[in-house]
Amino acid sequence: MDLTIRPRRLRGSETLRRMVRETRMDAASLIYPMFVMDGENKVDEIPSLPGQYRYTVDRMDEELDRLENAGVHAVMFFGIPAVKDEVGSQAYSPEGIVQRALRHARVSHPDMYLITDVCMCEYTSHGHCGVLCDQYVDNDASLALLAQTALSHVEAGADMVAPSDMMDGRVRAIREVLDVSGYVTTPIMSYAVKYASAFYGPFRDAAGSAPAFGDRKTYQMDFHNRHEGIKEALLDVREGADIIMVKPAMSYLDMIRDVRERIEVPVAAYSVSGEYAMVKAAAANGWIDEERIMCEMAAGVYRAGASILLTYYAKELAVCIREGKIG
Ligand code: PBG
Repeated sequence: MDLTIRPRRLRGSETLRRMVRETRMDAASLIYPMFVMDGENKVDEIPSLPGQYRYTVDRMDEELDRLENAGVHAVMFFGIPAVKDEVGSQAYSPEGIVQRALRHARVSHPDMYLITDVCMCEYTSHGHCGVLCDQYVDNDASLALLAQTALSHVEAGADMVAPSDMMDGRVRAIREVLDVSGYVTTPIMSYAVKYASAFYGPFRDAAGSAPAFGDRKTYQMDFHNRHEGIKEALLDVREGADIIMVKPAMSYLDMIRDVRERIEVPVAAYSVSGEYAMVKAAAANGWIDEERIMCEMAAGVYRAGASILLTYYAKELAVCIREGKIG
């Protein structure tokens, strides 16, 4: 056979395959989403997210220890408050659940990098991501509260804030408040390319944050759109975002690639609750190999162009990376 080029030559052994591998992974790029809740001495498993738990502040060290042991050094906190109201006061109260979790973790795990999700949906009685004016989420009125939330997180010890509300102008509003308060060095990771997605279903069960009426389509993006995602990413970079996130990950790999090619800041991808829940459910039925699927999905996200991955599988992935099963 007259074949000069035989791609199979470079697939001949594991050693060679690893040598020529194009996508390499590092546990340093993983962020673990963690739910903290009001109350005492409780660890509740989340039914729609098997293996994921909500922790009260006095029990969260168990999970932070496990993360550090696995080699995961960054978390993103989501708060589940005991009380909610129209204006989401617990989101920006210095005694709010995330603020207390931050003060605790800052001391108990000084080397853990603490990121917070900045949004109002877990804190508002109506479950929307901002404040309402009649039935409409009022963009500009929400900005001040989101900025106040971000500032209260940083004052409580957050290393980075990550607005996920999808209001226009929130990155600028947060940057301005942080800067005038002396936090010029605190980075913002913007959930810039965030679609209105059914993949968030299990998260909303976990956080009790499903909207009481309507949906999030007047602020989160229509999943048919690509240019709009690039527009959002470019806008947020201009407003001062240090990292741009694409969310969800699995059905949006094209957006990860598009954004990577159009902007100069790191791109993060969030493999959301529905992605995790689907893998868990199929694995529980014996239909797929959970570990191999998890590794393949993660590699796809990095190959698409992300350099940071938020995932409920952070610990398991870190171990697979360490053991050479991936990356
Ligand atoms: C808050 C927020 C959500 C998620 C992250 N931040 C829910 C939503 O937008 O409805 C989803 C995360 C996940 O599904 O894992 N706005």
